[in-house]
Amino acid sequence: MEDTIVVTGGTGRIGRSVVPLLRAAGRNVRIVSRHEPAVAPDDQGITHVVADTVEDRGLVAALAGAETVLHLAGSQKGDDRAAANIARAAREAGTRHLILISVIGAGRMPIGYFRAKAESERQVAESGVPWSILAAAQLHEFLLPMVGGLARLPVTPAPTGLRFEPVHREEVAERLAEIALGTPAGRVPDLAGPEVLELGELVESYSGRHRPLLRIPVPGAVGRAYRAGANLADASAQRGRRTWSDFVGELAESAVTAGRAAARG
Ligand SMILES: NC(=O)c1ccc[n+]([C@@H]2O[C@H](COP(=O)([O-])OP(=O)(O)OC[C@H]3O[C@@H](n4cnc5c(N)ncnc54)[C@H](OP(=O)(O)O)[C@@H]3O)[C@@H](O)[C@H]2O)c1
Repeated sequence: MEDTIVVTGGTGRIGRSVVPLLRAAGRNVRIVSRHEPAVAPDDQGITHVVADTVEDRGLVAALAGAETVLHLAGSQKGDDRAAANIARAAREAGTRHLILISVIGAGRMPIGYFRAKAESERQVAESGVPWSILAAAQLHEFLLPMVGGLARLPVTPAPTGLRFEPVHREEVAERLAEIALGTPAGRVPDLAGPEVLELGELVESYSGRHRPLLRIPVPGAVGRAYRAGANLADASAQRGRRTWSDFVGELAESAVTAGRAAARG
């Protein structure tokens, strides 16, 4: 069991990129999520256990004997409860390294998702299990549906002060694999993308066309937090290399490849 790494959320966006890196490093992987993957992994080194981190179902079996647990499972609600359940299960399993992915600004943004991530960080840091925590910026893929939707409008609604520093999924996965293969490191530098961009810049770069902006003030504490850049990394952060326009180029390339494959039948 020593060489097996448990990856909660290993079927998700980030998880799907981390698992092959852990396999390439010679480690077996036990994926934990609520649903069996649509296609069973064609690799004997990968197993899957059904469990629910929020409802605390199946976690004893999921973490049994796990020396390293990479906790990626997450959703819009309940991440704090999930982290508390994972922290307890890891302690009971005798885990030697518990790794959490969090989000940049977790302790600063007055939004439920960020608050739950701050509480998750606390649960892991106080678990009694040696730990590492990496806070990452939003992935390019996370912003894509919003940017794609806005790109269809003649004018881009641009909440004042709203900025992002999107990071490439593979760069986050590489860093997480490096952490999981190493020793507990506590809080490691945040990982953000190489540029800080406003919504209008993201939409223009995605659509390749200039769009007039419709500035919309965001009222209240959330607006103040965004204007102050509370969701952004500080100077101590590590920066990825792959930009939003690199990502947009990758999307175009994969659309061409898919089109050619469809034409071949
Ligand atoms: N995407 C971003 O921009 C971003 C940025 C910073 C941090 N993060 C954090 O990184 C983590 C992974 O993000 P992602 O984008 O890869 O997420 P994702 O694509 O939505 O995948 C979520 C994964 O978690 C599993 N999961 C969800 N709820 C679960 C539960 N209650 N019990 C067990 N498994 C559960 C899902 O599988 P099932 O549905 O089968 O359970 C899936 O494998 C999350 O914690 C997220 O908050 C994401």
